[in-house]
Amino acid sequence: MAKSVVCQGEIAIFVLMKKAYIETYGCQMNVNDTEVIFAILEKAGYGRTEIMEEADLVMANTCSIRDNAEQRIWGRLDVFNSKRKPGAYIGIVGCMAERLKDKLLDTGKVDLVVGPDAYRRLPRLLEAITPDNPQMDVLLSREETYADITPVRTDRNGLSAFISIMRGCNNVCSYCVVPYTRGAERSRDPHTIVREACDVFNKGYREVTLLGQNVDSYLWKSEEETVDFADLLKMVAAISPLLRVRFQTSHPKDISDKVIETIAATPNICKHIHLPVQSGSTRMLELMRRKYSREWYLERVAKIRSVMPECGITTDVIAGFCTETEQDHRQTLSLFEEVGFYWAFMFAYSDRPGTLANRTMKDDVPPEVKNRRLKEIIDLQNRKSLEEYRKMIGKTVIVLVEGPSKRNPEEFCGRASNNMMCVFPAGELRKGDYTEVTVTDCTSATLICK
Ligand code: SAH
Ligand code: SF4
Ligand code: F3S
Repeated sequence: MAKSVVCQGEIAIFVLMKKAYIETYGCQMNVNDTEVIFAILEKAGYGRTEIMEEADLVMANTCSIRDNAEQRIWGRLDVFNSKRKPGAYIGIVGCMAERLKDKLLDTGKVDLVVGPDAYRRLPRLLEAITPDNPQMDVLLSREETYADITPVRTDRNGLSAFISIMRGCNNVCSYCVVPYTRGAERSRDPHTIVREACDVFNKGYREVTLLGQNVDSYLWKSEEETVDFADLLKMVAAISPLLRVRFQTSHPKDISDKVIETIAATPNICKHIHLPVQSGSTRMLELMRRKYSREWYLERVAKIRSVMPECGITTDVIAGFCTETEQDHRQTLSLFEEVGFYWAFMFAYSDRPGTLANRTMKDDVPPEVKNRRLKEIIDLQNRKSLEEYRKMIGKTVIVLVEGPSKRNPEEFCGRASNNMMCVFPAGELRKGDYTEVTVTDCTSATLICK
């Protein structure tokens, strides 16, 4: 039966907006997930606040990658409990929620535990929550990509946006918790990715970073089409020559010639590849189950440099993985010496419960040895960073202007295509402009330009 509605003048509807406060830890994918969560919470009547004390919902989007990442969250949980407004709920979402599940609820410090694939159900969980009835949803999914959700951007510059192109990971690197906290790998519909990139471009953004744990295995198959990562890069780059395209993380075993050649051939795809090596010793790489050797890694670097000599290469490395000897460690040092990364994330191995290494190997490198080896890698890398930045002196690069530099507001900063940070005189420039600068000097983390 059809319903007829008689309008009797205007009725003002006041929706009481509650507020959510979220702290984000871990990788860029978590940054993007927080933006997705804010979009979902908006539908449930929650606006965003940056003030914890005024929030009705205080959450941490968490990381489990190393033990110290989790220790930090335990510390924050105590702060949340002491500072929250009376009646506010406390939530743990993300990888630590997925890993610890009801162990988090058992502490009595948390009202809400939600894993990375369950954010869509947040509104329902929040409806059901009471002080005596905490809620948990840690179901992993084989399909969820949040493809249809437009993230609420939380960046402050309005220039550079992160877009997830896939979720989960199908590798089983023996040290890593990600496959357990994020579930199986799945790729997102490329057309929704292009739409999101178009949308941010139209809003004034000039750079997108396509995110995945292993972007090179991105693969979308439907009846009509097959799209691999190189195809996707081309599709996003075609939006506008003024939109810069970045991506991370590349996996040495999967980065293909097609991808490398696509980056080389497309001016607005940035010439920067983050290519985590983890170790310079083939024996270690085998134990880590990385599925490539030192030689394979060096060959991929050589391929990249043969077609793009100007490409910046950065990496991740782990010191002191199970059974690592001085000889293995020296192989890592020599690989760092040989490649010349201009930047690296360097970590001491942290044994993670439930991983293959945790179940089948002994975490037998003493902490002081791990830390000494880590320090040796860091010292070497600092020297190499300076060397790599120095090689840029005299060169001309195009930067995307971000705005005043932190140290000196009279100067502007922005990144070169290879992702090195540049500072230069502000002049008439505005945020979002592209400008050509010449490198005159450098530190080990900044190019000084004119
Ligand atoms: N998917 C990416 C990396 C994701 S995790 C890749 O495959 O390269 C980010 C980095 O954390 C890893 O590259 C690794 O260097 C580090 N990491 C992961 N697990 C670790 C552990 N158990 N201990 C120390 N570092 C770890
Ligand atoms: Fe972890 Fe390996 Fe997957 Fe990277 S590729 S997220 S290190 S399992
Ligand atoms: Fe951490 Fe999860 Fe990212 S463990 S590194 S937040 S995928």
